[in-house]
Amino acid sequence: MTERSHHPIIVAKGLTRIYQPGGNEVIGINNVNLEISSGELIALKGNSGSGKSTLLALLAGLDTPSRGTLIVANNDLQQLTPVQLTQYRRKVVGMVFQTFNLLPTLTVLENVSLPALLAGHPYARVTNKAMELLGWLNLNSRINHLPSQLSGGEMQRTAIARALINEPAIILADEPTGNLDTRNGEIVIELLAELNRRFGRTVIIATHSKIADPHATLRICLKDGSITDTICCAP
Ligand SMILES: Nc1ncnc2c1ncn2[C@@H]1O[C@H](COP(=O)(O)OP(=O)(O)OP(=O)(O)O)[C@@H](O)[C@H]1O
Ligand SMILES: [Mg+2]
Repeated sequence: MTERSHHPIIVAKGLTRIYQPGGNEVIGINNVNLEISSGELIALKGNSGSGKSTLLALLAGLDTPSRGTLIVANNDLQQLTPVQLTQYRRKVVGMVFQTFNLLPTLTVLENVSLPALLAGHPYARVTNKAMELLGWLNLNSRINHLPSQLSGGEMQRTAIARALINEPAIILADEPTGNLDTRNGEIVIELLAELNRRFGRTVIIATHSKIADPHATLRICLKDGSITDTICCAP
């Protein structure tokens, strides 16, 4: 048995998130049980409203469940203090969003460096690391540009560099290709797949398209907040 099968990086039990806008209950996710080994590339699939973003937000520590437990990289998320939760968000998970979420007044290099500077790492080391990542992502010539001066594909590659700067074990990507043309979407998915294959990162890509399917080791299908199918695609 490999180490990977012994050490799930994500364990969810009875995980439920119910929203209550104006007193009406809306199910985000409902009684999700999940055990994910380190090193998987997961395509999290399902129609609009099926709960993909809700699950990612819980995994990212950006939202709290209504019921159930969630343990990620040995962190029991409900037991963490606010300070620990901030550390968790900064170091354990890296997020990539459909709308890129870059800070408009910061350059590419500054956007990428910020999470590492906030984590207290020294400026010179952070800059070196950011430059290395930006080189890998073919953004050498864009480091002093503002987000508004970039193409969509360049913005998303900048966001990927930012997600990686603190070397998180898990990358969570919520519809990362939603605002990109087909070619740039493929480039982004291939980069995420390379992170998984070459660097062993656990990657979860939420998408209603089939774009991540060829790279996925596991497909998890959500419907109305519940898992309907878990398909192992590993060779
Ligand atoms: N903040 C919120 N308040 C109330 N209801 C919400 C909130 N966020 C999500 N929901 C509801 O929870 C359900 C799941 O939403 P979620 O955003 O997780 O779906 P999704 O699978 O990411 O959809 P999409 O593919 O459109 O991004 C939907 O019915 C949605 O309307
Ligand atoms: Mg969504």
